[in-house]
Amino acid sequence: MTDLSFTTLRREDPASDARRAEIHANPGFGVHFTDHMVSATWTKDGGWHDGRVVPYGPIQLMPSAAVLHYAQEIFEGMKAYRHEDGSVWTFRPEANAARMARSARRLALPELSEADFIGSLKALLAVDEAWVPPADGSEASLYLRPFMYASESFLGVRPANEVTYSVIASPAGPYFAGGLKPVKLWISQDYARAGAGGTGAAKCGGNYASSLAGQLEGIENGCDQAVFLDSGTHELIEELGGMNLFFLTKDGELVTPELSGSILEGITRSSILELAKDLDLTPVERKVPIQEWKDGVASGDIVEIFACGTAAVITPVGELRWEGGSAPAVGGPEGGEVTRAIRSRLLDIQYGRAEDSRGWLTRLA
Ligand SMILES: Cc1ncc(COP(=O)(O)O)c(C=O)c1O
Repeated sequence: MTDLSFTTLRREDPASDARRAEIHANPGFGVHFTDHMVSATWTKDGGWHDGRVVPYGPIQLMPSAAVLHYAQEIFEGMKAYRHEDGSVWTFRPEANAARMARSARRLALPELSEADFIGSLKALLAVDEAWVPPADGSEASLYLRPFMYASESFLGVRPANEVTYSVIASPAGPYFAGGLKPVKLWISQDYARAGAGGTGAAKCGGNYASSLAGQLEGIENGCDQAVFLDSGTHELIEELGGMNLFFLTKDGELVTPELSGSILEGITRSSILELAKDLDLTPVERKVPIQEWKDGVASGDIVEIFACGTAAVITPVGELRWEGGSAPAVGGPEGGEVTRAIRSRLLDIQYGRAEDSRGWLTRLA
């Protein structure tokens, strides 16, 4: 069902081809944005309306806008990939649309239909297609960030009567420019990211704000990122601040923490669980105690560990540290063989180099 159509107001001063090429040569992550953005409004009385593609720029918001006080906000993260023939595709956008609808329900925001969600991406790509990096085999992409927030000017704790939906896009370079490098992880023993009955399974800004103290503690202890545990027992592995975790056992089981209600259901995670069977691995979703990680690397039961998410696809995990101890890396200096095989398989599908037998790709431009 579609509620929205998008009118387009092109900017008069778009980036020149030379400037775009300069950005594509060194895009970083999340620092440069395309010429345009999507915006649409929802009101309690009028539903979704006023879909537009407009020049990228500052948004007008009253200081009393509810989102600035009560954090009624959700977002998504996905990528547009250019294939060899010049066409532009995205990966499982129906899953992102469904997750955004689930997040909306949890944050008492209005749902956007799958058709409008995908329509908004196509509308943006119709004008900013040139911002999708060229297909040069380098894993570059255009990161897409749909988000929705309570834009109503009102101080009071209730669901907003006016909400804004927007999509911005940012060229992204290969995450591992110099080859895969395992990340060192820190166990966040005291700071949980989310709790039972909370918003951990939703993709809302507040979860990321609550992860920062744990991340900071990890960095202060020489690590790259923090592993968050369940808030009840502090014994079960949940996930990282922005990625899910997988463990490969010596018996060929590919184990990931089960969805506890406070873990984000990653689309990369669910894709890997499906791909595991193609690689003769047994996918397992269950509770994973942090002690099992410590013991498993010592005994040789755990042979590879990796994290996964849209931004970095798959990141090998190295050493684990905690207050007063550490567990060594497994899998080698560039990640284990299976970690690299799953990574290549996903990338090959996303970039159109392997058959998309599950119908995971949608053409955007
Ligand atoms: C907290 C968290 N967990 C997991 C993921 C991985 O999700 P996906 O694979 O859909 O990018 C993300 C990134 O979106 C995240 O922010």
